[in-house]
Amino acid sequence: MSSSVFHRDLRAAYPSVVSAEGMYLTTGSGQRILDAVGGASTVVLGHGVREITDAVARHGSELSFTYGATFTNPWQEQLAEALVAMNPEIAARVYFASGGSEGVETAVKMARQYHLQCGRPGRHKVIARWQSFHGSTLATLSLSGRPAWREPFLPLLPPAPHIVPPYCYRCPLGQAYPGCGVACADDLERTIVMEGPDSIAAFIAEPVIGSTVTAVVPVPEYYRRIREICDRYDVLFIADEVLTGYGRTGRWLAIEHWGVAPDIVVMGKGISSGYVPLAAVLASQRVVDAFTAGSGTFSHGFTYSGNPFCTFVGLQVLRYALAHQLFEGVAAKGQHLRTALGHLAGRHQIIGDVRGLGLFAGLEIVADRASREPFPEKAGLTRRIVRGALERGVLILPGVAGANYGRGGDHIHLSPPYIITPAEIDLVAQVLDETLTEIEASL
Ligand SMILES: Cc1ncc(COP(=O)(O)O)c(C=O)c1O
Repeated sequence: MSSSVFHRDLRAAYPSVVSAEGMYLTTGSGQRILDAVGGASTVVLGHGVREITDAVARHGSELSFTYGATFTNPWQEQLAEALVAMNPEIAARVYFASGGSEGVETAVKMARQYHLQCGRPGRHKVIARWQSFHGSTLATLSLSGRPAWREPFLPLLPPAPHIVPPYCYRCPLGQAYPGCGVACADDLERTIVMEGPDSIAAFIAEPVIGSTVTAVVPVPEYYRRIREICDRYDVLFIADEVLTGYGRTGRWLAIEHWGVAPDIVVMGKGISSGYVPLAAVLASQRVVDAFTAGSGTFSHGFTYSGNPFCTFVGLQVLRYALAHQLFEGVAAKGQHLRTALGHLAGRHQIIGDVRGLGLFAGLEIVADRASREPFPEKAGLTRRIVRGALERGVLILPGVAGANYGRGGDHIHLSPPYIITPAEIDLVAQVLDETLTEIEASL
């Protein structure tokens, strides 16, 4: 099929989705697909919610654009106020952006300028973790510890130090919890000291690792230790909650599971449930105070930041989610999902690990469960599982090559809209069961 679109894969024939409602997508050829990943962990309310689309149609004729350097508008003010109210201990003010990558870039510049405001001009580096993902722009890709995506652009990436991830299933330090003493967190201190504390502005992490090694949940002590180290060296802690925020893990922000408050939080994806491009950077009181006491200005700006149309949609999405108590169901549904996946692991030897939190779950696929040896990349296990499920009418996402220390390794990503029912979760598990049975028979 010829196309004028510069697709990710110019040789692939992408199925065209022409409509969607609730949990289901419909393609141009009439296939109905159960969306078990909310597009890309984005659709939280379900597709095509009439209350939202009707409100959007009404709003469009009222006000579609203002420029943030000149005006504010009621919707960005109201959405910011609502986001602060969701967790005032973490957020004092909100900066809006048009997507996760823009949000992370904003957080990095905010952290850098925070230190300038505080009279510490040497602090400019942001430390990140290997096997992480923070975005596709050059600066956010430099933070992302995803070798496969970094490699083509390495000469262009600004330098960023990386520490080991808290990935117990394949501990990068070759240790085992709890005997390890959570040494992976101490790698942050080692790196700060080696790089020179006076050069470090911030540490950034996805509280639950997102797409590079799907749904890895760090051990309970991990973020308290991280927070202590950040405090000891005056380093800001940025939580990248683009995927894990907005109730995805059963709490408003995933970091709340660890009882830790970051200095800056980035939210994206679910914040607009996919209706419009939107992200939010939540700045804590400490950060806001430094700006207010310093120059008062944040040297940064996007044309679409705080766009009245997008923030209006964000406000409608939040009101809808609260009115329908969608966040409340996530923890129990997530438990149901992990239990169903656990049963699958009992039936399929190639499932090495089942993990996740709330409605974000991951399966790691291995050739040998005892040694955790991955399949060779050329076996294409992830691709085959995703294709097999799609043929059976269920959309799941491939984990991006990264599980095996960033080089191959198979993992599957599930992050359904919050409206998924227990019966639909069972259907997803049944389709995975059939798909894995077929693949195992062919190995
Ligand atoms: C944790 C995390 N941060 C940042 C991003 C980048 O967001 P976007 O694709 O909206 O720019 C993503 C996207 O998947 C993500 O998962």
